Amino acid sequence: MVTTLQVIAAFHVFFGVLWVGASLYIDVAWYRPWKNTRLVGELKLWQRILHPTGPFLGITSLLVLITGLIYMFTKYGTDFGVIWAGQSGRLVIISLILVVAAIIFAVTVTNRLSLRLIRMDLPEDPGTPIPSEAKGLMDGVSRASAVGTAIIVIVLILMVLAATGGV
Ligand code: HEM
Repeated sequence: MVTTLQVIAAFHVFFGVLWVGASLYIDVAWYRPWKNTRLVGELKLWQRILHPTGPFLGITSLLVLITGLIYMFTKYGTDFGVIWAGQSGRLVIISLILVVAAIIFAVTVTNRLSLRLIRMDLPEDPGTPIPSEAKGLMDGVSRASAVGTAIIVIVLILMVLAATGGV
């Protein structure tokens, strides 16, 4: 018989690996060629392709956080002192803090840079080289995204350590 905890764990791990996997794929497979575009026409095409990225990662991150909190409270109870007292629980709380930091960073830095780029008044002629200000924002978005991805990869490692009894 499948238990409630197993169902919660399955949803949590599904959203967790989706968030980490999608973030890594976007950084490696999309942001790299995106960052190397030279012409306004190419950039506008990329903007249309990348447009769903922010909402997709945003919703996935919230689903990881919500399923993670349900998992933590179901498995350990609601007393943070008790949770912190055990090695696995401590790793879970550290992961919670890192994930909240990663979400705040995504909203206040990565998304804000992306929005500035999307709202920028780019030249009409698609054959025009991308203005340096836009190039600067593209570098900023891809670097900020890489910082966020690094944080959640560390969390994934901490989670596996937590699930296997701690260090
Ligand atoms: C990038 C974000 C995260 C990823 C990729 C992730 C992934 C995972 C994975 C793969 C496991 C092991 C599943 C198992 O064997 O039971 C796990 C366990 C767990 N996760 Fe997460 N998680 C993330 C964030 C969070 C957050 C924010 C919380 C909220 C408090 C959380 C709470 C838990 C709990 C309570 C466990 C069980 C640990 C144990 O067995 O003691 N996770 N997570």
